[in-house]
Amino acid sequence: MAGKDILNIIAVLALTGIVVISAAPEKRQTEVLRPAFSVGLTKMMNVSDHVNVTFDRVFLNEGSGYDPMTGVFTAPYDGTYNFLYHALAEIDGVLYLDLYKNQEYISSAYAHVTSDYGSASNAVVITLARGDQVYISGHGTSMLYGDAWEVYCTFSGYLMFFTKGAPPA
Ligand SMILES: *[C@@H]1O[C@H](CO)[C@@H](O)[C@H](O)[C@H]1NC(C)=O
Ligand SMILES: *[C@@H]1O[C@H](CO)[C@@H](O)[C@H](O)[C@H]1NC(C)=O
Repeated sequence: MAGKDILNIIAVLALTGIVVISAAPEKRQTEVLRPAFSVGLTKMMNVSDHVNVTFDRVFLNEGSGYDPMTGVFTAPYDGTYNFLYHALAEIDGVLYLDLYKNQEYISSAYAHVTSDYGSASNAVVITLARGDQVYISGHGTSMLYGDAWEVYCTFSGYLMFFTKGAPPA
């Protein structure tokens, strides 16, 4: 086979591939905005046992699932969600936070250093049903560092996939 023929075959295969790839993504998924939130803490906050962290600076709240008054995210749709949280402790302070789904414990972030500022973070991917609540609460006592110009403590989450691959009609 001549080199030119091989090149032509490769070109045809590549074109076919591009057509298949561009047809593959689920069209409906792009038609509904997926819920996403990202929030931060702009003040010093002592969080005691089982008290929820009320992140007060809202960077993004697509779908209004996050409530800055309570610090609680309520899932608007069934689906698979990613949550991320990061925090900095006040100097010598303990940082011990838990992520909850309703009353169910999911994961923690812990830091404690002396004469310095400890930081910790964690992330999870979990499945939620519509109405499930996700929030960060204190485990023991945490001293969180925050300021209007020093936002170290953040909490973010977003819907990765709708259950069954499509948003509700
Ligand atoms: C947090 O607790 C520490 C130790 O009791 C105290 O010194 C500090 O003022 C408290 N911070 C806030 C914001 O209440
Ligand atoms: C934290 O939020 C959860 C979920 O809404 C709620 O059940 C719990 O009572 C809250 N904790 C406090 C101390 O308000």
